[in-house]
Amino acid sequence: MNQDIERVRERIEALSAEIEAHNYRYYVMDDPTISDARYDKMIRELEKLEKQYPSLASPYSPTQRVGGQPREGFATVRHLSPMMSLANAFDEGELRDFDRRVRQALPGEPVKYVVEPKIDGLAVSLFYENGLFSRGATRGDGETGEDISENLKTIRSVPLRLRKIVRALEVRGEAYMSKDSFARLNEAREETGEPLFANPRNAAAGTLRQLDPRITASRRLNLFVYGIGYSERVDPRDHSDVLQLLQELGLRVNEFHLFDDMAEVIKYCLDWQSRRFELPYAVDGLVIKVDSLVQQQRLGATMKSPRWAIAYKFTPEQAVTTVKNIFVRVGRTGVLTPTAEMEPVRVAGTTVSRATLHNEDNIREKDIRIGDRVMIQKAGDIIPEVLAVLPDERKGDEKVWTMPSECPSCGSRVARAAGEAAVRCANIACPAKLWEGLIHFSSRHAMNIAGLGPAVLAQILAGGLIHDPADLYRLRFEDLVALERLGPKSAQNLLGAVEASKKNSLARLIFALGIRHVGERSAKILAAHYDSLEALMGAGEDELMVIPEIGPKIASSIVSFFAAAQNRQVIDKLVQAGVNTRAARNSSAGAGPLAGKVFVLTGALESFTRQEAQEAVERLGGKVSASVSRSTDYVVAGEKPGSKYDKAVSLAIPILDEDEFKKLTGMD
Ligand code: IVH
Repeated sequence: MNQDIERVRERIEALSAEIEAHNYRYYVMDDPTISDARYDKMIRELEKLEKQYPSLASPYSPTQRVGGQPREGFATVRHLSPMMSLANAFDEGELRDFDRRVRQALPGEPVKYVVEPKIDGLAVSLFYENGLFSRGATRGDGETGEDISENLKTIRSVPLRLRKIVRALEVRGEAYMSKDSFARLNEAREETGEPLFANPRNAAAGTLRQLDPRITASRRLNLFVYGIGYSERVDPRDHSDVLQLLQELGLRVNEFHLFDDMAEVIKYCLDWQSRRFELPYAVDGLVIKVDSLVQQQRLGATMKSPRWAIAYKFTPEQAVTTVKNIFVRVGRTGVLTPTAEMEPVRVAGTTVSRATLHNEDNIREKDIRIGDRVMIQKAGDIIPEVLAVLPDERKGDEKVWTMPSECPSCGSRVARAAGEAAVRCANIACPAKLWEGLIHFSSRHAMNIAGLGPAVLAQILAGGLIHDPADLYRLRFEDLVALERLGPKSAQNLLGAVEASKKNSLARLIFALGIRHVGERSAKILAAHYDSLEALMGAGEDELMVIPEIGPKIASSIVSFFAAAQNRQVIDKLVQAGVNTRAARNSSAGAGPLAGKVFVLTGALESFTRQEAQEAVERLGGKVSASVSRSTDYVVAGEKPGSKYDKAVSLAIPILDEDEFKKLTGMD
């Protein structure tokens, strides 16, 4: 037995080390060397072993990223040295002034500068003890911050274990949200009528201060480290050595450059002005630091900021233009989004002629009128938005705009739900919704039907060939070639893509249906949980909410989606057309000691949460269902069981108490 345990311990350690090495390659070096599938396989094996042998599971295991439960609030943390801010330079002249001050304080000495991108995120500190992540905090007031350890652990590039053991090390860095994640988050929020984040920085701040680490995990933050706040037994000479060392320890460090004099630094800064728009994250400037740590120490700091560093801030990319018109776009879920059409103007690297006005409240608050001169900006350099009106430039003929009371696409009355900023068209057959729905259905991450671009789709719709996504599968070659501008070859390709899409995974299909709040990730989770679309359609809200990451909003949206007769009809048609609605299970599923067994949980368990109990069942191959029926194999009854207990008795289904359940799942 002891030998067995020893073997398991060795296997756990070997797996952890291998996974950590791949994490480093993937999240820090951005250079993975194995496939996602092989990586997932290792994670699953490790999870399984840790569940079977909980005493061997380390809190620093690579599986422990989203372990934390929601909290009431954050504890405060005193920083080991103050987290200061930086003085700013807005032009070349101010950079030269900085260089002059540095040289005056270090007469006759050569000075080297390191230049790093200044990421527009949130300053955080990470504390490692004996190489293990022990705590992370926000900057707060610079002296004390908030303990956001659980949230930082959800960031995959934050190592839970350093690659070399260092006694004590506090590193500083910037947590941020990529432009992509920011755009996706705001899109989802716009759909649900939740307030939008103004830029990736605010989004990152809101996400890091989430009390529920599962929400933080779902929003995918990232981090670059740029310095050390406190350390024991590491003594680099230069800041560039620090960055090198941090990278060797497994932390994610951004590119940096060393320069011998300020003229070169300035040239580099000017080059960056346009380069910054090409990056996947928002950069609001560059940080210039004296390289030698001895020189840094001699230069010292003012009350607020070090004298050895300065932030060169890029000119904010705003522009003034005229609102020519305001029109309304109807989205896939029927939300009416007012959009400004403007005189084209160059902002942050591109020419902009449209800006979202978000919703009617925003227009009213900013008093935006047709004909107004407005200041626009790209939110986090990405989504153009109207910042403010320039009232002094009004001539008096500007027109106040109001939200239409009818859908601009189908003429149905629109409504605004209580507590939401969004106005919606409720007509299921609204052509604008159909249009957006089809674009979504066929998009790359959904059913991936290539060849169904907007031009082709417009013709197909105009020809009255389809009325819902399922009609795509009824398209015939003769109908397509009859369309203008669609040759036989394109028609054939399109039909081929439609045909091929029938074999898509269940996850793609669930995502493609366009159920409100069900994004790609939720779709994958649902497909992993249910054997078929039919099974998902039969699920009630309670049952759905037991699934990790499926909250009440998603659950209720799924249930009402499948309750709508029109949606069920579309699904029937999809099934008839031969579209796959079953989950492909790999060989490991369906195996396990509880394979095929259906459990129902009722009452409170003492030693684990509902979710943990469910996970235990699923890990062993079983399933958890929300309601008792003849197909239930076991009912697990905790304290104060509900009516499910009585039902189990009446159907003579075996009832397990907590101890029996623990034995059965090997958790005793
Ligand atoms: S060094 C003593 N380097 O900019 C201050 N800061 O006001 C040391 N920031 O919120 C800061 N990228 O988090 C430094 N490469 C970088 C940075 C950086 C972003 C942030 C920092 C702080 C602000 C400085």
